[in-house]
Amino acid sequence: MVILILSLLMASLVSANLEGDILIDQRAAWQDPNNVLQGWDATLLNPCTWLHVTCNIDNQVTRLDLGNASISGPLIPQLGMLAKLQYLELQENKISGSIPASLGNLTGLVSLDLYMNQLSGPIPSSFANLNSLQYLRLNENNLSGIIPSEVRDLVFFGSLVQLNLSGNSFMGGIRNSHQRVITVSLD
Ligand SMILES: *[C@@H]1O[C@H](CO)[C@@H](O)[C@H](O)[C@H]1NC(C)=O
Ligand SMILES: *[C@@H]1O[C@H](CO)[C@@H](O)[C@H](O)[C@H]1NC(C)=O
Ligand SMILES: *[C@@H]1O[C@H](CO)[C@@H](O)[C@H](O)[C@H]1NC(C)=O
Ligand SMILES: *[C@@H]1O[C@H](CO)[C@@H](O)[C@H](O)[C@H]1NC(C)=O
Repeated sequence: MVILILSLLMASLVSANLEGDILIDQRAAWQDPNNVLQGWDATLLNPCTWLHVTCNIDNQVTRLDLGNASISGPLIPQLGMLAKLQYLELQENKISGSIPASLGNLTGLVSLDLYMNQLSGPIPSSFANLNSLQYLRLNENNLSGIIPSEVRDLVFFGSLVQLNLSGNSFMGGIRNSHQRVITVSLD
């Protein structure tokens, strides 16, 4: 029994450390002129006490809230390993580079707000897996390419409530011929 409890405890510590390591790596990849991430301390047991980070009772990260924080730099692919992430709120920064395909692994994601950044490249087709996603706001970036059919399927069959792709350079569109009530902005 004691061994079981200990090994459960160890498992949760290890996963908390993994998530903390991912956030420390993301911090290192960003420029943060306002020092909003200065409390992100790698020596702490897990990231759940850090500002802008929210966890569930199992110390797994469920939210990152870093809107309008003057952050620049890329999104690292390891963000897709924050297995319980529900809210990724990074709008109104200067985040650049492409959207990592690994974000399609975040199957619990409810809201992905990357609007008003400097992201380029396509929307990954891996977003097909985001069946819990209700808010996908990518407006005012420099995204391009064809809107993947998988993302169109999220509009018709997924949980999306709002999809805003305005202010990018996408080709084609999404026909508004579905039954569900959803706000789609594309211009
Ligand atoms: C963004 O943050 C700045 C201060 O850093 C503030 O003045 C501004 O109102 C904020 N903008 C929004 C849209 O929240
Ligand atoms: C996450 O997604 C990437 C790209 O979509 C994939 O190659 C990778 O195997 C996935 N990793 C996990 C742990 O599911
Ligand atoms: C937007 O992306 C295109 C290539 O897709 C590039 O040529 C252009 O410089 C980018 N613009 C900005 C403002 O990043
Ligand atoms: C979508 O984004 C555009 C550009 O940022 C904005 O003007 C528009 O109000 C947004 N649409 C909705 C429904 O929020």
